[in-house]
Amino acid sequence: MPGIMNWKCWVCVIAAVIAATVFRCEGDEIYVCDPMKFEMMGKDIKQFAFCDSSLGFEERAIDLVSRMTLQEKVGQMGSTSTGVPRLGLPKYEWWSEGLHGVSNTGPGIVFDQRVPGATSFPLVILSAASFNETLWRVMGEIVSTEARGMHNSGTAGLTYWSPNINLLRDPRWGRAQETPGEDPLVVSRYAVNYVRGLQDTSSSSSNMLKVASCCKHYTAYDLDAWKGIDRLHFDAEVTQQDMLDTFQPPFEACVTQGAGSCAMCSFNKINGIPSCADPQLLKNTVRGEWNLNGYIVADCDSIQVLFQSQMYVKTPEDAVAYVLRSGLDLDCEHFYTDYLLPAVVKGKVKESDIDRALVYTYTTLMRLGFFDGSKEYASLGAKDVCTPEHQELAVEAARQSIVLLKNDGSLPLSTSKITTLAVIGPHANATQAMIGNYAGVPCKYTSPIDGLEKYTKIDYKLGCYDVACGDTSLIPSAVEASRKADTTVLVVGYNLTFEAEGHDREDLLLPGQQQQLVAQVAFASKGPVILVVMTGSAVDISFAQKSGNISGILWVGYPGQGGGDAIAQLIFGTHSPGGRLPMTWYPNQYAEIVNMTDMHMRANLATQYPGRTYRFYTGDTLYPFGYGLSYTSFQYTIKSQSSQFLKVHLPKNQKCYSLFESSEQPVSNCPSIRLEDKSSKNLCKDLEIQIQVEIKNSGTRDGSEVVLLYVVPPSGRVGAPVKQLISFQRVFLTVGSSEVVVMKINACDSLGLVDNAGYKILPAGTHTLMIGQDSTNSISVNATFLPTSPPTVV
Ligand SMILES: *[C@@H]1O[C@H](CO)[C@@H](O)[C@H](O)[C@H]1NC(C)=O
Ligand SMILES: *[C@@H]1O[C@H](CO)[C@@H](O)[C@H](O)[C@H]1NC(C)=O
Ligand SMILES: *[C@@H]1O[C@H](CO)[C@@H](O)[C@H](O)[C@H]1NC(C)=O
Ligand SMILES: *[C@@H]1O[C@H](CO)[C@@H](O)[C@H](O)[C@H]1NC(C)=O
Ligand SMILES: *[C@@H]1O[C@H](CO)[C@@H](O)[C@H](O)[C@H]1NC(C)=O
Ligand SMILES: *[C@@H]1O[C@H](CO)[C@@H](O)[C@H](O)[C@H]1NC(C)=O
Repeated sequence: MPGIMNWKCWVCVIAAVIAATVFRCEGDEIYVCDPMKFEMMGKDIKQFAFCDSSLGFEERAIDLVSRMTLQEKVGQMGSTSTGVPRLGLPKYEWWSEGLHGVSNTGPGIVFDQRVPGATSFPLVILSAASFNETLWRVMGEIVSTEARGMHNSGTAGLTYWSPNINLLRDPRWGRAQETPGEDPLVVSRYAVNYVRGLQDTSSSSSNMLKVASCCKHYTAYDLDAWKGIDRLHFDAEVTQQDMLDTFQPPFEACVTQGAGSCAMCSFNKINGIPSCADPQLLKNTVRGEWNLNGYIVADCDSIQVLFQSQMYVKTPEDAVAYVLRSGLDLDCEHFYTDYLLPAVVKGKVKESDIDRALVYTYTTLMRLGFFDGSKEYASLGAKDVCTPEHQELAVEAARQSIVLLKNDGSLPLSTSKITTLAVIGPHANATQAMIGNYAGVPCKYTSPIDGLEKYTKIDYKLGCYDVACGDTSLIPSAVEASRKADTTVLVVGYNLTFEAEGHDREDLLLPGQQQQLVAQVAFASKGPVILVVMTGSAVDISFAQKSGNISGILWVGYPGQGGGDAIAQLIFGTHSPGGRLPMTWYPNQYAEIVNMTDMHMRANLATQYPGRTYRFYTGDTLYPFGYGLSYTSFQYTIKSQSSQFLKVHLPKNQKCYSLFESSEQPVSNCPSIRLEDKSSKNLCKDLEIQIQVEIKNSGTRDGSEVVLLYVVPPSGRVGAPVKQLISFQRVFLTVGSSEVVVMKINACDSLGLVDNAGYKILPAGTHTLMIGQDSTNSISVNATFLPTSPPTVV
């Protein structure tokens, strides 16, 4: 009979409850609106609208918050939320990390006997070098599968404060390794794919989340600690032009196209205002313009920082009032939980502002199934972490990404020609160094010597005791080994002592006596010498680039748990390298003349400031952005271009604008249109360009090629980038085969520029579309924007 239970049923229920609490098995889910739990509390679940799954998430979150006392509300405003036991709401730890694998950097994750380790992918700067959007997405999917598996095992949270999508402005930044490099498009596409990999459920129409991802650190944050200036005190002076075409695009893409469910504001000030206390940045842009579906969180512990370090406000209560009003929903650590109550009492904070913030955070938890459970992921557990497939993908990710910088033809090595391989250097047996910043506990390590040993007999010598390489005492034995061996592999680089969060570099050189080691070994070696550079960013190795005694150079980033296998497979030619540098490699002199605190992207001839990244820097480089060699070769042929001329007849109401600081005669009496103008939006729809390029593998090995499409803007536009990447695609081609790559772009989206007044414009004139690496090694087509019958120029 419905509604009435006999005593047998009660025994069953009680036994089930005890079993569920005491003997929680893997795969059992803990969720708020568990009817059995409410029954045990002696409450009728039907009385709690927040547990009514027929209502919308926001409505339910509003109901939940409305039941809390002010004190209870405040308890949920920090990263370790206390929960409200009388409402059946458990405590929740918001801070989990998953930058390149599930990581125990935050308190939300533990590795213990339940789940001892998780798959550790390469650091992001290396994965970025694959230029493979599918790979970025698949890595996100694997990280979230392992995260869900660990969550179900009780060892991980559901809210991940990853990825780091700050554009790499300067190679000295200690967190360069965490980023997808220096190009706004690459960083944006990385963000969109990785975030979707983490978050998306299998049903594409669903508002549910697999795990929640966070777009951080918002914004213009890329200095940690450099010559006495630290991130807590640094005021980044950023022009509107740089803000709009360099620092903001990755965040906009992450929130809008990636549907990232969180944004984290950064420590630094921007033009005098701490980013977490700037309503223009948070409330108006992320929440308003970009329509964030999720919550805004503080970096840990930036509310305190703006009071204590930046002295931006006089009292802690003012600090919490400022940031809450600016749109900050959740604190990391406990400044909100300590000071919101007194701030309300003093009338500095409205309780309704706290309510609004909590509705955002609880709506996010509802989308994660925290309240209702998640059928889709209930079966995931420890068995889904560190699977052979996931670990193989960690190797593949490194293999797709490692960049071949130099090859005199000695690479790939052939096992038949080698009896002994000397493997030398402080990173020859690297393990922990390979997983860098924001790591977890990896499933296992394959170090470079482990990987190389699978191909041939090796003679391993340290060469230096450690990365610091403080003396030369171990060099003679390394030289001796190299003299005897048929071939030598040297593995050098940095580790977290030299570049990390809280620690920027001051130069671009190899530490200590490492260069000495390389030079002496290279001088003495009997056979070819291959240099493997393990660093999280650019390093000046011009001595090796130029030396005739160094046959090959590979940059391997921090290649993750399987790095040694990937390195060996490329060195011995099981696969051909296809990675491309996601950042410019400058000579060390760059670090001597450029102030790291100078945020300008654009060069300034008057002060001899050379500008930053391939988009604005025109000085000497060791290796440019996009550089990377292969064991095979590729031929490009343009198959078709939709049209060379983008002729448009302007509507009557269209405004035209004279060009900023142009040194050339205008090609049209409509020098440019502003893209924000309503009339431009219609016009832009028709400005589609399609280019078909055939890529043929004309060499002797199978391999992958990264097709890069740049635009070179019409000449004479001061402040315009030298060139700008507007599309890229990686293709795999077997020997002799070819593929037609179709690149579709919209002229306004891709050929538009930001002028120095902060307007997005499309200038008239000839934009050159360049496919390939540089002017000597590329083919190009023109796209000429020719507006006719223009109305008056403003
Ligand atoms: C390589 O490093 C691992 C981990 O630190 C260590 O156990 C192993 O003995 C090292 N191998 C050699 C040959 O030194
Ligand atoms: C990096 O190497 C230095 C010595 O060069 C060593 O003292 C330090 O422990 C290493 N750091 C990490 C994080 O492994
Ligand atoms: C290369 O090594 C040989 C000796 O093996 C030496 O004579 C020569 O100077 C070296 N070249 C460079 C560029 O170091
Ligand atoms: C570098 O920047 C700092 C702070 O922004 C400033 O104090 C210093 O004068 C600058 N140095 C140079 C050489 O521009
Ligand atoms: C891109 O990565 C995916 C996932 O690892 C892989 O299957 C695919 O082959 C890669 N594409 C190219 C062209 O290398
Ligand atoms: C592109 O336009 C420039 C003039 O702006 C011209 O010199 C060049 O020949 C054109 N290239 C092609 C491929 O049409």
